[in-house]
Amino acid sequence: MRNIHAILEQMSLSEKLAQMTQLWGEFPDGSPLMGLHYDFHSNRQLAESAGSILGFSGAQRTMEVQREYLACSDKKIPLMFMTDVIHGYRTIFPSPLALSCSWSPELVEETAAVAAKEASVSGLHVTFSPMADLVRDSRWGRVIESTGEDPFLNSLYTAAFVRGYQGNDISESDRLACCVKHFVGYGAAEGGRDYNTTQISEYQLRNFYLPPFQSAVNAGCKMVMAGFNSLNGIPCTANQWLFQDILRNEWHYNGLVITDCTAVYELVPHGYSIDNTEAARSSIKAGMDIEMVSTTFYDAKEELIRDGSISMELIDQAVERILNLKEELGLFDNPYKNADPELEKKYHLCKEHREAARRAVSQSVVLLKNEQESLPLKTSERIALIGPYSDNNRLLDIWKCEGKEEECNTLLKGMRDGGIDVLVSPPCTNCNLTCQAEVPDSLNCEYEAAIATAGSCDKIVLALGEPPEWSGESGSRAYITLPDIQLRLLDELHKLNKPIITVIFSGRPLELEQAAQKSQALLQVWFPGTEGGNGITDVLLAKSLPQGRLTMSFPRTVGQLPLYYNTLPTGRPQQTPEGCERFRTGYIDTPNTPLYPFGYGLTYTTFQYSDITLSRHSLNMSDVIHASVTVINTGKYSGCETVQMYIRDIAGSYCRPVKMLKSFRKIDLQPQESALVSFTITSDDLAYEIPGKGLLTEPGEFHVFIGPDSSTQNMAAFILTVD
Ligand code: NOJ
Repeated sequence: MRNIHAILEQMSLSEKLAQMTQLWGEFPDGSPLMGLHYDFHSNRQLAESAGSILGFSGAQRTMEVQREYLACSDKKIPLMFMTDVIHGYRTIFPSPLALSCSWSPELVEETAAVAAKEASVSGLHVTFSPMADLVRDSRWGRVIESTGEDPFLNSLYTAAFVRGYQGNDISESDRLACCVKHFVGYGAAEGGRDYNTTQISEYQLRNFYLPPFQSAVNAGCKMVMAGFNSLNGIPCTANQWLFQDILRNEWHYNGLVITDCTAVYELVPHGYSIDNTEAARSSIKAGMDIEMVSTTFYDAKEELIRDGSISMELIDQAVERILNLKEELGLFDNPYKNADPELEKKYHLCKEHREAARRAVSQSVVLLKNEQESLPLKTSERIALIGPYSDNNRLLDIWKCEGKEEECNTLLKGMRDGGIDVLVSPPCTNCNLTCQAEVPDSLNCEYEAAIATAGSCDKIVLALGEPPEWSGESGSRAYITLPDIQLRLLDELHKLNKPIITVIFSGRPLELEQAAQKSQALLQVWFPGTEGGNGITDVLLAKSLPQGRLTMSFPRTVGQLPLYYNTLPTGRPQQTPEGCERFRTGYIDTPNTPLYPFGYGLTYTTFQYSDITLSRHSLNMSDVIHASVTVINTGKYSGCETVQMYIRDIAGSYCRPVKMLKSFRKIDLQPQESALVSFTITSDDLAYEIPGKGLLTEPGEFHVFIGPDSSTQNMAAFILTVD
């Protein structure tokens, strides 16, 4: 073990503040060391002593930089390299929102472990993942990076990501340390506009937004990133209540805290700090250990501590945490850790990783509609493949790390390799994906060719969607429709009276009512990653059976947003006695219900649920209830059903959500096979966070729902009594 205290004692203030600074690591000016966006030469001293580098990887490059850095460095404290390895490093898995639709934390853990292996051989030490933000508004472009709208599921996923990246010991060669982000509420940006302010009550925070972060912390996550947003009037970057009171004091977190990119500097335009020095003081006081990309900590130097509001002890604590992480990663012993050009060749895109990515695609896609058994396809059928995503390799969202579009399998390639007789209409592969221009009165000859191709086939696979840059950071949209030109193409194809299987590539739940009406089958495939074409084909051909379930509600229209299943009830619910229709919560022009609810997804078979049987109808604080259903596969195919259990607390000190997911079970059933699925309910499952009091269970009536998705009305009631 290094004596971190001894190192700390020898460091100057300037060296300490440099450790607390993370520089952007690109080489825009071709300089030998870390070229910065700002003038490199004037920052040479900082570049030679900065604690970590962002967005820079590759075995050879990181080794060179580390070598050069250590040669200049007086104290020989190794650099840490961090970047956003979000869903793969070179082999790219489906985006996190897609992965979450697998309802499989095991799958997420596996993908994170593969990502860590590929990234660690390329010299990385820390990834800025998982994103734990709860999301309710698909206008926000970053919903694609999230795992959806449910705190229970999000919590399972954050822990799975942490286990996958970190394993049991981050000093091991194939592991990365990871950083959960963005603490907290960033996903609730008003109006879905990225970086916008958030207003979230403590009740909402503690019951919806905080649990996935706490789960990551409990799983041993080494770093937490502050959100860009202001929360109830105070930017997260300067929010002492969040970082000191909750994170450190309540949760006993002793890892690192990092700001988001340039977020300290942004406290000035936020209207929170008068200048950069003030911004630096507020952030350090709140508990920021590392400043990402802006350099206010370092620039302030003595100014920082002059007025006494920041003590040297506070700075030392931050630096100690940074050095501890370097020690834990094993960097003092081997500053190159697992960086190895030979291992890069061996692991990157290796067969095993590609196969894992392909499996992940088939588990992530969600079958939204399937009439007249349009799916699965048969290899004996002649298929027309039409639309902008037919032979398009833009299958990676904007966090593609070292993934390359040219390494992606397109849908056309996947279908041809799968043995499907495909006729693709070449002009349509060039159809402008991003075209929002006015739709011409008559479609031009390119479209006519596509329609002619479709006319000569048995079925049409129509690959539509939005381009990757329409989601992700700074990718918010006010309209969440498919481009008009694509809908027009669908209209024209619809006139042919042939089965249309529409495949949607998107970074968010889109408005899909029109696409659903005019298609016999609808398959949501998100951004599926390197193995997209193969994984989708596996599902189209039933080589893998569809099993994805939505983790975000799909709205009928953008006007319903924010939309989520676990909403609080109102005094005037939508279902009211006849004659009172007007004076109830809702719209006069659209229902409150989503087009497709949370938890929804079809398979190639059908399942029937029995009523719920309860082992007892009342329980006290130490009892358990078993709630059971029998599920039968009533169709022709085998299939995987995700049996979901929700609970409603009928009355409490706070209004309780109409439903909260509490458990689920994935079961495989052969045709006509049935299974008894039983869930155990204890008083712990009924507890919720009451501000000022903590996690409490209140006695009273509860409803348990068990069904295929969050709209289920299959319900039984029980009473919780006090002992
Ligand atoms: C800004 C993003 O908000 C954050 O998620 C990311 O980790 C950093 N940039 C670093 O790339």
